[in-house]
Amino acid sequence: MKTKKSEQHFDTVFQKEIHEGLTAFPKYISSKWFYDKTGDQLFQQIMNLPEYYLTGCEYEILDTNTAEIAQLFSDKEGFDLVELGAGDGKKTKVLLQHLVTNEMPFTYKPIDISQNALDSLENDLQKVFPKLDMITQQGTYFEVLEKLCKRSSERKTVIMVLGSNIGNLNHENAIKFLSDIRKCMNPKDLLFMGFDQKKDPSIILSAYNDSQGVTEAFNKNVLKRINSSLDADFDLNSFKHWPIYDPETGTTKSFLVSTKEQKVSLNKLNLEVSFSAWESIHTEISQKYDDHIVNWLAQEAGLEVFVKFQDSEEYFTDYVFKKI
Ligand SMILES: C[S@@+](CC[C@H](N)C(=O)[O-])C[C@H]1O[C@@H](n2cnc3c(N)ncnc32)[C@H](O)[C@@H]1O
Repeated sequence: MKTKKSEQHFDTVFQKEIHEGLTAFPKYISSKWFYDKTGDQLFQQIMNLPEYYLTGCEYEILDTNTAEIAQLFSDKEGFDLVELGAGDGKKTKVLLQHLVTNEMPFTYKPIDISQNALDSLENDLQKVFPKLDMITQQGTYFEVLEKLCKRSSERKTVIMVLGSNIGNLNHENAIKFLSDIRKCMNPKDLLFMGFDQKKDPSIILSAYNDSQGVTEAFNKNVLKRINSSLDADFDLNSFKHWPIYDPETGTTKSFLVSTKEQKVSLNKLNLEVSFSAWESIHTEISQKYDDHIVNWLAQEAGLEVFVKFQDSEEYFTDYVFKKI
C-alpha cells in the first residue's frame, strides 16, 4: 500500500530521497547515490575508458603545471588542502607527490560521500606517501562546508574540486554551492575547480555512452543499490540507459527508461512504484561550460577567476578562484 508522504518516517536520507524521487513526476534519483562500493569501482573503470576524456585531460593539466599550482597553494605557515568529492585521488596524487617531495607543509583533507572511496584512498595514500598528513571526512559537500566554516584556525585553506563534480548541479545549485564555499573562505584562501568545457557534441555524448557499456552499468547500479538496501525488485533488464546532450544549454542528462509498463516494490519503504511504458527516471546531469558561463557563475557567487589551466586540446579547464 502506498503511504502518504506526511506520515512516512525515514531512517536515512537515502530512504527519504529515493522515496521523494520515485513518487515525483517526472521521476528522478540524485547522482550522489551512484557511489556505493560497486559504483566506486565502476567509476574507476569509467575513468580508464577511451571515451571518458575528462580524466586524461585534467591529469595532463595537473601533470604539466604541478610546480606552478603547488606554488599558488603554498604558504609559509602551511595550508590545508580540502578536496570535495575526492574519489580515488588518481589525479590529486600528482600534486601530492610534488608537495611531499618538496617538503611543503600541508594537511590533505579529502571529503567524500562514499566511506568506501575514502577508506580505499586512505589505504592507498598511506602506502605511497607514508609521511602524508591526512584527515579524511565522510559527508556531503554541504554538510562538510558547514563544518569548514566553523574552523577557528587562520591557516590558509585551498578547496579543490576536480573531475567537473560541479557539473552534477544545475546553474542555480552551482551558484549556491560556490556561494557556500565562498562563505567559508578567508581572503588568502583559494578555490581550485575543474569545469568540463563545451566541445563537439559527439565527443561529449560518447563519454556518457561508452561502447563497452560501463556507463550503462554505472547508471543501472543505482537500481541495484535500491534493490539491496531497500528490499526492492527493480528488473535491470527492463530499463534502458539513455544519455542526451543539448548543445544549446550545454547539459548532458542521463536517464533510465522503463521499456514496459511495470510495477516495482520497495518493501523497506512500503512503497509500490508504477512505471508507464517508456517513462523515465532522470539520474544525472553533467553540465558543460565555457569561460563566459564560469565567469558568470563566479560573479553571482562573489568569486573571481584569477588564473586558469587548460589541457592541450582545450577540452577541460581548472580555474583558480578568489573571494572578490
Ligand atoms: C565523478 S567522481 C569524481 C572523483 C574525483 N573528484 C575525480 O575527479 O576523479 C565524484 C565523486 O564525488 C563524490 N560525491 C558525489 N556527490 C557528492 C556529494 N553530494 N557530496 C560529497 N561527495 C560526493 C562521489 O562519491 C565520487 O567519489
